[in-house]
Amino acid sequence: IPSKLLNRPLVLIGLMGAGKTTIGKKIADLLSIPFIDSDKEIEITAGCSIADIFEQYGEEEFRRVENQVIQRLLDQAPLILATGGGAYMHPKTRKTLKEKATTLWLHCDLETLFKRVSKNTNRPLLNVNNKKEILSSLMEKRYPVYAEADIVVECKDKDIDTTINLVISAL
Ligand code: S3P
Repeated sequence: IPSKLLNRPLVLIGLMGAGKTTIGKKIADLLSIPFIDSDKEIEITAGCSIADIFEQYGEEEFRRVENQVIQRLLDQAPLILATGGGAYMHPKTRKTLKEKATTLWLHCDLETLFKRVSKNTNRPLLNVNNKKEILSSLMEKRYPVYAEADIVVECKDKDIDTTINLVISAL
Protein backbone atom coordinates (compact mmCIF):
# COMPACT_ATOMS: atom_id res chain seq x y z
CA ILE A 1 0.00 0.00 0.00
CA PRO A 2 1.45 3.41 -1.00
CA SER A 3 2.60 5.45 2.00
CA LYS A 4 0.13 8.32 1.43
CA LEU A 5 -2.73 5.88 1.97
CA LEU A 6 -1.57 4.50 5.28
CA ASN A 7 -2.51 7.20 7.77
CA ARG A 8 -5.27 9.19 6.10
CA PRO A 9 -8.11 8.43 3.74
CA LEU A 10 -7.56 9.45 0.12
CA VAL A 11 -10.44 11.69 -0.95
CA LEU A 12 -11.14 12.23 -4.64
CA ILE A 13 -12.61 15.57 -5.60
CA GLY A 14 -13.59 17.06 -8.95
CA LEU A 15 -16.58 17.93 -11.06
CA MET A 16 -19.38 15.60 -12.06
CA GLY A 17 -18.03 13.32 -14.79
CA ALA A 18 -14.40 13.58 -13.69
CA GLY A 19 -14.35 9.85 -12.92
CA LYS A 20 -14.10 10.01 -9.12
CA THR A 21 -16.22 6.91 -8.56
CA THR A 22 -14.90 4.85 -11.47
CA ILE A 23 -11.25 5.65 -10.80
CA GLY A 24 -11.55 5.42 -7.02
CA LYS A 25 -13.18 2.01 -7.17
CA LYS A 26 -10.63 0.61 -9.62
CA ILE A 27 -7.67 1.81 -7.57
CA ALA A 28 -9.17 0.46 -4.36
CA ASP A 29 -9.68 -2.92 -6.06
CA LEU A 30 -6.11 -2.93 -7.39
CA LEU A 31 -4.72 -2.19 -3.94
CA SER A 32 -7.27 -4.33 -2.08
CA ILE A 33 -8.37 -1.49 0.17
CA PRO A 34 -11.91 -0.25 0.93
CA PHE A 35 -13.74 2.16 -1.34
CA ILE A 36 -16.73 4.32 -0.42
CA ASP A 37 -18.74 6.68 -2.57
CA SER A 38 -20.16 9.48 -0.41
CA ASP A 39 -23.20 9.98 -2.68
CA LYS A 40 -24.13 6.32 -2.27
CA GLU A 41 -23.55 6.53 1.47
CA ILE A 42 -25.82 9.60 1.66
CA GLU A 43 -28.57 7.68 -0.16
CA ILE A 44 -28.25 4.79 2.30
CA THR A 45 -28.35 7.17 5.28
CA ALA A 46 -31.29 9.18 3.95
CA GLY A 47 -33.15 6.19 2.56
CA CYS A 48 -33.83 7.96 -0.74
CA SER A 49 -32.01 9.11 -3.86
CA ILE A 50 -29.87 12.26 -4.15
CA ALA A 51 -32.41 13.57 -6.66
CA ASP A 52 -35.20 13.05 -4.08
CA ILE A 53 -33.22 14.87 -1.38
CA PHE A 54 -32.68 17.85 -3.69
CA GLU A 55 -36.32 17.86 -4.75
CA GLN A 56 -37.92 17.40 -1.34
CA TYR A 57 -35.51 19.21 0.99
CA GLY A 58 -33.32 21.38 -1.25
CA GLU A 59 -29.59 21.65 -1.86
CA GLU A 60 -28.80 23.21 1.53
CA GLU A 61 -30.18 20.19 3.38
CA PHE A 62 -28.29 17.89 1.00
CA ARG A 63 -25.03 19.69 1.87
CA ARG A 64 -25.76 19.32 5.58
CA VAL A 65 -26.27 15.56 5.26
CA GLU A 66 -23.26 15.29 2.93
CA ASN A 67 -21.09 17.02 5.52
CA GLN A 68 -22.29 14.69 8.29
CA VAL A 69 -21.70 11.58 6.21
CA ILE A 70 -18.21 12.66 5.13
CA GLN A 71 -17.23 13.59 8.72
CA ARG A 72 -18.21 10.11 9.82
CA LEU A 73 -16.12 8.40 7.13
CA LEU A 74 -12.83 10.17 7.64
CA ASP A 75 -11.49 8.32 10.65
CA GLN A 76 -10.50 5.20 8.76
CA ALA A 77 -7.43 4.39 6.69
CA PRO A 78 -6.64 2.99 4.26
CA LEU A 79 -9.74 4.18 2.44
CA ILE A 80 -10.51 5.73 -0.91
CA LEU A 81 -13.50 8.05 -0.69
CA ALA A 82 -15.11 9.51 -3.79
CA THR A 83 -17.07 12.65 -2.93
CA GLY A 84 -19.81 14.45 -4.84
CA GLY A 85 -18.60 17.39 -6.91
CA GLY A 86 -19.93 19.99 -4.49
CA ALA A 87 -18.58 18.51 -1.26
CA TYR A 88 -15.23 20.30 -1.31
CA MET A 89 -17.03 23.61 -1.97
CA HIS A 90 -18.78 23.51 1.39
CA PRO A 91 -16.47 25.44 3.76
CA LYS A 92 -17.07 23.16 6.73
CA THR A 93 -16.55 19.99 4.68
CA ARG A 94 -13.43 21.45 3.06
CA LYS A 95 -11.97 22.31 6.45
CA THR A 96 -12.48 18.76 7.74
CA LEU A 97 -11.06 17.26 4.56
CA LYS A 98 -7.93 19.41 4.87
CA GLU A 99 -7.50 18.29 8.47
CA LYS A 100 -8.17 14.61 8.08
CA ALA A 101 -7.64 13.48 4.49
CA THR A 102 -5.27 13.54 1.57
CA THR A 103 -7.27 15.24 -1.16
CA LEU A 104 -6.73 14.55 -4.85
CA TRP A 105 -8.35 16.61 -7.59
CA LEU A 106 -9.12 14.93 -10.89
CA HIS A 107 -8.68 17.98 -13.09
CA CYS A 108 -10.76 17.47 -16.21
CA ASP A 109 -11.59 19.57 -19.27
CA LEU A 110 -15.10 20.65 -20.27
CA GLU A 111 -15.42 18.40 -23.35
CA THR A 112 -14.56 15.25 -21.40
CA LEU A 113 -16.93 16.12 -18.55
CA PHE A 114 -19.73 16.98 -20.94
CA LYS A 115 -19.31 13.75 -22.91
CA ARG A 116 -19.53 11.71 -19.71
CA VAL A 117 -22.45 13.48 -18.05
CA SER A 118 -24.61 13.59 -21.16
CA LYS A 119 -25.17 9.85 -20.86
CA ASN A 120 -26.55 10.20 -17.36
CA THR A 121 -29.70 12.05 -16.36
CA ASN A 122 -30.02 11.60 -12.62
CA ARG A 123 -27.80 14.44 -11.39
CA PRO A 124 -30.13 17.18 -10.14
CA LEU A 125 -27.76 20.05 -10.99
CA LEU A 126 -27.46 18.80 -14.57
CA ASN A 127 -31.09 17.94 -15.10
CA VAL A 128 -31.27 20.82 -17.58
CA ASN A 129 -30.98 21.35 -21.32
CA ASN A 130 -27.89 23.56 -21.17
CA LYS A 131 -25.61 21.05 -19.43
CA LYS A 132 -22.49 22.43 -21.07
CA GLU A 133 -23.13 26.00 -19.90
CA ILE A 134 -23.86 24.80 -16.38
CA LEU A 135 -20.71 22.69 -16.31
CA SER A 136 -18.68 25.57 -17.63
CA SER A 137 -19.94 27.96 -14.95
CA LEU A 138 -19.34 25.32 -12.25
CA MET A 139 -15.76 24.99 -13.57
CA GLU A 140 -15.27 28.70 -13.23
CA LYS A 141 -16.54 28.76 -9.65
CA ARG A 142 -15.06 25.52 -8.41
CA TYR A 143 -11.68 25.04 -10.09
CA PRO A 144 -9.91 27.79 -8.12
CA VAL A 145 -11.10 26.07 -4.92
CA TYR A 146 -10.40 22.50 -6.07
CA ALA A 147 -6.86 23.75 -6.79
CA GLU A 148 -6.28 23.81 -3.02
CA ALA A 149 -6.20 19.98 -3.06
CA ASP A 150 -3.03 18.25 -1.85
CA ILE A 151 -2.53 16.49 -5.19
CA VAL A 152 -3.71 17.50 -8.65
CA VAL A 153 -3.91 14.97 -11.47
CA GLU A 154 -4.38 16.29 -14.99
CA CYS A 155 -6.92 14.12 -16.84
CA LYS A 156 -7.25 15.98 -20.14
CA ASP A 157 -6.76 13.71 -23.18
CA LYS A 158 -6.09 10.69 -20.97
CA ASP A 159 -8.15 7.53 -20.78
CA ILE A 160 -9.25 6.10 -17.44
CA ASP A 161 -6.39 3.56 -17.22
CA THR A 162 -3.74 6.21 -17.87
CA THR A 163 -5.34 8.43 -15.23
CA ILE A 164 -5.36 5.54 -12.76
CA ASN A 165 -1.63 5.06 -13.27
CA LEU A 166 -1.04 8.78 -12.75
CA VAL A 167 -3.01 8.71 -9.52
CA ILE A 168 -1.15 5.67 -8.22
CA SER A 169 2.24 7.19 -9.01
CA ALA A 170 1.23 10.36 -7.16
CA LEU A 171 0.60 8.37 -3.97
C1 S3P B 1 -23.03 17.41 -7.11
C2 S3P B 1 -22.43 16.28 -7.60
C3 S3P B 1 -23.02 14.92 -7.49
C4 S3P B 1 -23.97 14.85 -6.28
C5 S3P B 1 -24.96 15.95 -6.35
C6 S3P B 1 -24.33 17.35 -6.39
C7 S3P B 1 -22.35 18.72 -7.29
O1 S3P B 1 -21.99 13.96 -7.35
O2 S3P B 1 -23.26 14.90 -5.09
O3 S3P B 1 -25.75 15.74 -7.48
O4 S3P B 1 -22.72 19.69 -6.60
O5 S3P B 1 -21.40 18.79 -8.10
P1 S3P B 1 -20.96 13.52 -8.55
O6 S3P B 1 -19.87 14.55 -8.64
O7 S3P B 1 -20.44 12.21 -8.08
O8 S3P B 1 -21.76 13.43 -9.79
